[in-house]
Amino acid sequence: MELFQCCYLFGFLMLFSYIQLTSCYQDGFLSLSCGASTSFIDGSNISWIPDGAFVNSGQTTTIDLDGTSTNVPIRFFPDSQTRKCYNLPTNNLSSPSLVLVRAQFAYKNYDGLSKPPTFFVSLGTALSTNVNLSKKDPWIEEFIWPVNKDVVSLCFQSIQGSGYPVVSSIELRPMPQGSYRSAMNDSPDYLLRSVYRINCGYIDGPLRYPIDQYDRIWDADEDFTPFHVSTGFDIQNIFNLSNLIESPPTAILQTARVLARWNELTYNLPLDHQGDYHIILYFAGILPVSSSFDVMINGNIFQANYTIQTWESKDMLFTLKEINSLNITLRKVGYFPFINALEVYEILDIPPGTSSTTVSALQIIQSSVALDLGWQDDPCLPMPWDHIGCEGNFVTSLDLSGIQLRSINPTFGDLLDLKTLDLHNTSLAGEIQNLGSLQHLERLNLSFNQLTSFGSELESLTNLKILDLRNNSLEGIVPDSLGELQELKLLNLENNKLQGPLPRSLYRKSLEVRTSGNMCLSFSTTLCNQFPSTIETPQVTVVPPKKGKGLNHLEIIVGSVGFIVLALFGISIAFILYSRKKKSGMASKAGTKTDASTQNAVKAFSYKEIRSATNNFKEVIGCGSFGSMYKGKLQDGKQVAVKILFDKCQLSADTFLNEMSLLSQIRHQNLVSLEGFCHSPKQQILVYEYLPGGSLADNLYGSNCKKVKLSWVRRLKIAVDTAKGLDYLHHRCDPRIIHQSVKSSNILLDDEMNAKLADFGLRKQEVKPDATLVTTFAKSSSGYLDPEYHSTRQLTEKSDIYSFGVVLLELICGREPLSHAGSPDSFNLVLWAKPYLQAGGFEVVDESINGTFDEESMRRAALIASRSVERDAMIRPSISEVLAELKKAYSIQISYLASTEFTST
Ligand SMILES: *[C@@H]1O[C@H](CO)[C@@H](O)[C@H](O)[C@H]1NC(C)=O
Ligand SMILES: *[C@@H]1O[C@H](CO)[C@@H](O)[C@H](O)[C@H]1NC(C)=O
Ligand SMILES: *[C@@H]1O[C@H](CO)[C@@H](O)[C@H](O)[C@H]1NC(C)=O
Ligand SMILES: *[C@@H]1O[C@H](CO)[C@@H](O)[C@H](O)[C@H]1NC(C)=O
Ligand SMILES: *[C@@H]1O[C@H](CO)[C@@H](O)[C@H](O)[C@H]1NC(C)=O
Ligand SMILES: *[C@@H]1O[C@H](CO)[C@@H](O)[C@H](O)[C@H]1NC(C)=O
Ligand SMILES: *[C@@H]1O[C@H](CO)[C@@H](O)[C@H](O)[C@H]1NC(C)=O
Ligand SMILES: *[C@@H]1O[C@H](CO)[C@@H](O)[C@H](O)[C@H]1NC(C)=O
Repeated sequence: MELFQCCYLFGFLMLFSYIQLTSCYQDGFLSLSCGASTSFIDGSNISWIPDGAFVNSGQTTTIDLDGTSTNVPIRFFPDSQTRKCYNLPTNNLSSPSLVLVRAQFAYKNYDGLSKPPTFFVSLGTALSTNVNLSKKDPWIEEFIWPVNKDVVSLCFQSIQGSGYPVVSSIELRPMPQGSYRSAMNDSPDYLLRSVYRINCGYIDGPLRYPIDQYDRIWDADEDFTPFHVSTGFDIQNIFNLSNLIESPPTAILQTARVLARWNELTYNLPLDHQGDYHIILYFAGILPVSSSFDVMINGNIFQANYTIQTWESKDMLFTLKEINSLNITLRKVGYFPFINALEVYEILDIPPGTSSTTVSALQIIQSSVALDLGWQDDPCLPMPWDHIGCEGNFVTSLDLSGIQLRSINPTFGDLLDLKTLDLHNTSLAGEIQNLGSLQHLERLNLSFNQLTSFGSELESLTNLKILDLRNNSLEGIVPDSLGELQELKLLNLENNKLQGPLPRSLYRKSLEVRTSGNMCLSFSTTLCNQFPSTIETPQVTVVPPKKGKGLNHLEIIVGSVGFIVLALFGISIAFILYSRKKKSGMASKAGTKTDASTQNAVKAFSYKEIRSATNNFKEVIGCGSFGSMYKGKLQDGKQVAVKILFDKCQLSADTFLNEMSLLSQIRHQNLVSLEGFCHSPKQQILVYEYLPGGSLADNLYGSNCKKVKLSWVRRLKIAVDTAKGLDYLHHRCDPRIIHQSVKSSNILLDDEMNAKLADFGLRKQEVKPDATLVTTFAKSSSGYLDPEYHSTRQLTEKSDIYSFGVVLLELICGREPLSHAGSPDSFNLVLWAKPYLQAGGFEVVDESINGTFDEESMRRAALIASRSVERDAMIRPSISEVLAELKKAYSIQISYLASTEFTST
């Protein structure tokens, strides 16, 4: 039967076709018309079926593929960056060992955007190539795949910014038994990607099924250069082709490119990229005499004097490694060189896939979440799925944060190669479970969940370095067994409901434990045992030692927030603990004793001295839950305020002494200074300088006898003094100190009305910039607390600014931060006064200073106060800026007073 016509080429071509049609050979063909809704049979008797059963995503439309206005369906995969796969069955093919997989991609401006996409195409675990439809449209990719599983996945992955994959057809064809194997080293670890398949000497278009019963596409020759020397021959099918294992169809071998007039016959075959290529040259002796020629590859003789006898058929198979272009030249030796067909394949690795345990565990996890994670095919190869990280074919990280999991499913325990597991914010509740088998796990992030219990498996995660459990609902005590995690570097327990002492086993210099935002959690047993769990406090932070910092004795700092205080009073003591262990030792002990008598600048008093100084504790000047405050007089006549800590508020000896040591170093004219202390087995006593003027609050709101009339200029002076003290804490101290409790009752006045800030301590310290932030918490008195604290649970310098802004408003308005005295909308000072002051309205200014202030001075003070109490901490000014503005307001008021000769002070 004649299927195609004779053609004449350069006047010397006889083409005669002899094709034996193996009637409608279609065993094992699978032909998918992508996006089609019905099956059909094409002109070559190939039956096509819709692709819907093999893919689970994408949308369909039609295009005019060949310019004939016939609509051809296509499938495209819009708005997704995840891999999209077809699962193609390979088990139904008649020849199970090798299958040809061919996909055609066509854009044809289906979306009207005139932007042809570029995307990756992969087969199984092998990343093959990218399809660039602006280079060629349609584009055909063809692979020869060694069947190793029942299903092979053909996947497309969009490239950011380069449009979305689009596919028009997919075909699977069994390849002849035993063919192409040598190219693949007889191993299932390689696949071939077709680069060229040329029907030499033939010019009338591509030939395929049914001429090639395997439906390979043999391209016509004229597209390949140089073509000008080509000549075609054909001859009847009398060859014995059984020695050609690739089984090229007889019709293909019947034509040849023959060198008739020149010495060299050449194919220049450009390659898209460097790699290993497999080449097959087919020769069939169609000439009346034998011919011999040198086969040259890229200019070098590959085979000298290669001879083809008449009627003989031969193929030449070889692999070239690391080439990026290919020239095949046949150079005449005797009679005309010729060639009948050639094939060129790129050899690609098929990396081993991810273990099936891992794959099925991930599939179970995917099916247990409500969301489609888009996981298909191999998790790691050729590219990792979303949420997954891999090393080779091992899944080493998994990030499901933000996805509702509710519990840690047992299948997580099958992901044995995991090094990082991030399940923060996944609504996990109950206990931490099912992770005990993850022996390689180094980072575990379970933060922002509702976990209530540590469970019993964490201790077996022997390689764990980082364990983040912050913002959960963990209750009770921290299990001692966590100390078995010898690799642990960071344990974050912030914002849970934990209490009690931290196990000693966690107390080592290589481990940072963060504990703020818990009930009462610290390494100090005495404190935590004694405190009722309702008291919210926290913060023990162990900061690992820094190297080369001259501070080698400072290895561990335990800062702690004023638990003492928290209770109601607002005054708190915090402490810092220096462990003075040498670098080598594990700091398993809370530091060594410091010789009290050598404390810098502060004096260590005996209890007897204190008792006599206070005249046997005669005059009480304050009392709170932390202890009582007595007035005293030292032997040198200096007046002091003596604070005796209640039993339950006492610190461990080491802690207390270290605390004293650090407090003693903070000296500034606007900060109340520590004069000394007394430490006896039963008592812990702090001795402060005594400030006879009382607190700012007393002076503004106290009973009449205590109250001094505060003029505007005095108020500004107090503000400037306080700002100076705060500036010192924020900027001059190392480590920086956040006061945490700035309020009018903590601003004390001496007899010259100089203001000093009281009640600061190291609980508030911020560490140096390179160290870990020591977060702190203290319950500021209501009305002064930074509104951002409710969301961040952290007090910062800007929180002090807010509190100080409230003090400034008190000075301006002469009223308390929260007051039931007026109308309901004036209850909160900030909310009430800020709008007036921002608008330059002075109707909220304290009546008692009305008419005595310079408006510019007031305007500046009001403005800086309003800015300091901004909700958004970011836009609040720094203390230096506040101080500068207050100084200006102060000097303006001074000049105003001078010019009006108005004297109120
Ligand atoms: C297709 O198959 C039918 C019978 O199944 C046959 O009559 C017809 O000739 C075939 N067409 C081609 C182009 O092979
Ligand atoms: C497998 O082939 C048989 C006939 O050869 C066919 O009936 C069946 O539908 C095929 N199965 C698949 C999954 O293609
Ligand atoms: C696709 O090919 C066009 C034309 O050759 C080129 O400009 C473009 O950069 C290619 N796109 C990608 C993503 O490689
Ligand atoms: C074809 O050649 C092979 C060896 O190459 C030989 O075994 C076979 O008998 C030959 N067949 C015919 C029909 O000559
Ligand atoms: C292949 O041939 C082309 C044209 O003849 C030439 O430019 C190119 O350098 C050749 N490449 C090699 C590797 O010989
Ligand atoms: C080429 O090989 C043929 C037969 O193998 C031989 O007769 C001929 O002499 C050889 N020619 C050269 C130049 O080596
Ligand atoms: C938690 O996830 C939700 C979405 O599931 C997101 O809106 C929220 O911002 C996430 N919260 C945190 C703290 O990551
Ligand atoms: C855990 O997740 C939270 C929320 O995204 C993040 O802030 C934190 O840094 C993570 N922890 C670790 C140790 O990476």
